Amino acid sequence: MLSSEGKDESFFISVKKGGKARDFIMRKVCASDMKHNLAEMKSHVLEEISKVSTSEELDSVRVRYLGRKGEISVLLKHIGSLAPEERPEFGAAVNALREQVADAISRRKDELDKLALEEILHRDTIDISLPGEVYEIGGLHPLTKAMREVASVFSSLGFAAYESREAETDEMNFVKLNIAPGHPARDMQETFYLSDNTLMRTHTSPGQIRGMLSLKGKLPVRFIVPGRVYRRDPTDASHHPVFHQVEGLAVDIDVTFKELRGVLSAFMKRFFGQEVSTRLRPSYFPFTEPSCEVDISCMFCKGKGCSVCGGSGYLEVAGAGMVHPRVLVNGGYDPGKVTGFAFGFGLDRLAMLKYGIDDIRLLYGNDRRFLSQFRGL
Ligand code: PHE
Repeated sequence: MLSSEGKDESFFISVKKGGKARDFIMRKVCASDMKHNLAEMKSHVLEEISKVSTSEELDSVRVRYLGRKGEISVLLKHIGSLAPEERPEFGAAVNALREQVADAISRRKDELDKLALEEILHRDTIDISLPGEVYEIGGLHPLTKAMREVASVFSSLGFAAYESREAETDEMNFVKLNIAPGHPARDMQETFYLSDNTLMRTHTSPGQIRGMLSLKGKLPVRFIVPGRVYRRDPTDASHHPVFHQVEGLAVDIDVTFKELRGVLSAFMKRFFGQEVSTRLRPSYFPFTEPSCEVDISCMFCKGKGCSVCGGSGYLEVAGAGMVHPRVLVNGGYDPGKVTGFAFGFGLDRLAMLKYGIDDIRLLYGNDRRFLSQFRGL
């Protein structure tokens, strides 16, 4: 077809040849074919859009028609080559087609997105009828509980907590505590040796020396030493090769035995209850002079005598005494100027009495049936 200016007004347009989009071929047509072709193209494209099932397919349809070199875009570019009087109508028709196609694509995109979401929601459905995993709530070990309580009571009585070491030298564990080699008191504590002169501490008392040395002569000295100790005792209901002690030490000008008694009795009442009374019995330790054993009234029979206290009405819980002058010297203090008291008790025994545990091995067995009873106590 020739325009009035004699220009060739024909241009290429995709015309459907077969059943599929790819069958569109570019061939020269003239403007009069356009209306028909646009209508055919529209129904074809809309059908194609309705048939795609993934957003990738949809995108390739979009590129094929609306992309920069897409078929509808090509049509638009050719408007200029039509006869001027044909341009408005044709331009409007192509633009309308483009808008309808773009519209149809965006609607289809929404549909596909919705379908994809529905599929995800369906696939990821949680079956709330399945039994869930049960996470048990943990609790503090009875020894940890007892240790924290002991530390807190002593803190309120003015004692700091000093953490000493578990592997010790023979020197600290014995010699500095006035227990020379060959001293019979060494037999009181069956020792795990690591080498000739290193060992696992048999008591927390070497913490007295280390604590004092770290204070470098400063006053007052007032600390506890909580921690594990080790002894080669045969295991039974009241013996375990690892157990816990809490050492206590106070050094100052004019520290008295009376104060020792007051501190011990205050502690026992705070830890076990106001009805518990404390009794001191003369005893012997190489590092204290005078020395005593500390008993408390049996909380099970209220002092009347039962199987727990062996009928005596009292339970032995600690050793104590006034710090031996030689120990003060070994800690860097002058026994001519200061005095001190020391005590050491078995934390396991305290915890057992407090929580009614009759076998020390339960504290080390990690049996959850046992441990779970202390949850929230
Ligand atoms: N260390 C002693 C023991 O293990 C206890 C003790 C500590 C005694 C402090 C007196 C003073 O048996």
